[in-house]
Amino acid sequence: MNTSDKIKLKGGAILAPVPAVIVTCGSVEKPNALTIAWTGTLNTIPPKTYISVRPERYSYNLIKESGEFVINLTTKDLVRATDYLGVRSGKNEDKLKNLGLTVSVGQEVSAPVLNASPVSIECKVSEIIPLGSHDMFVADVLCVNVANELMNEEGRICLEKAGLIAYSHGEYFALGEKLGSFGYSVKKPVKKKRRKK
Ligand SMILES: Cc1cc2nc3c(=O)[nH]c(=O)nc-3n(C[C@H](O)[C@H](O)[C@H](O)COP(=O)(O)O)c2cc1C
Repeated sequence: MNTSDKIKLKGGAILAPVPAVIVTCGSVEKPNALTIAWTGTLNTIPPKTYISVRPERYSYNLIKESGEFVINLTTKDLVRATDYLGVRSGKNEDKLKNLGLTVSVGQEVSAPVLNASPVSIECKVSEIIPLGSHDMFVADVLCVNVANELMNEEGRICLEKAGLIAYSHGEYFALGEKLGSFGYSVKKPVKKKRRKK
């Protein structure tokens, strides 16, 4: 199908699927969390990530003032909390307490880590880039906390066991079946060894 058979819409934030992560911020004594879909990996070495946050969010100043936040990956078990943290504000309530969620202090940052998340990424802000509706917090990834049960004996992270979710056009989805793995399209089939007669 070429472009003349397609419908042209004006530019918008349609990229999908994207993560819907829970970003924790503030302190362990007074933590807050908000849901963020505008996030991603920016660089591998050194590891850099970003979150884009509207300045009117309660979390915005907490992150700006401390220069720290934690990206917590979300799972099927956390999907309701993911939505709640993205529609209620810490300005009016202790969202984490109301959801019965607990935090502990980061290993490299003083920002809180969400205990119920199997993978938490501790981040230190290096740059704030105002883009329009959102400010982009560019950050260094200082360390990653992974639940024990996701590590295999060879030290590989088995993310497929985590029950991760994705966000697509306003809806939450569980990740589906595995379709391939990195480089599988060019992998030569393993030849069966012929038995000597
Ligand atoms: C799925 C989802 C994704 C969201 N993504 C973002 C985002 O990328 N950036 C942002 O500023 N707000 C985003 N929000 C909205 C905030 O999470 C929401 O305004 C939240 O209530 C802010 O909490 P706070 O006031 O306690 O900081 C998202 C909400 C949902 C439900």
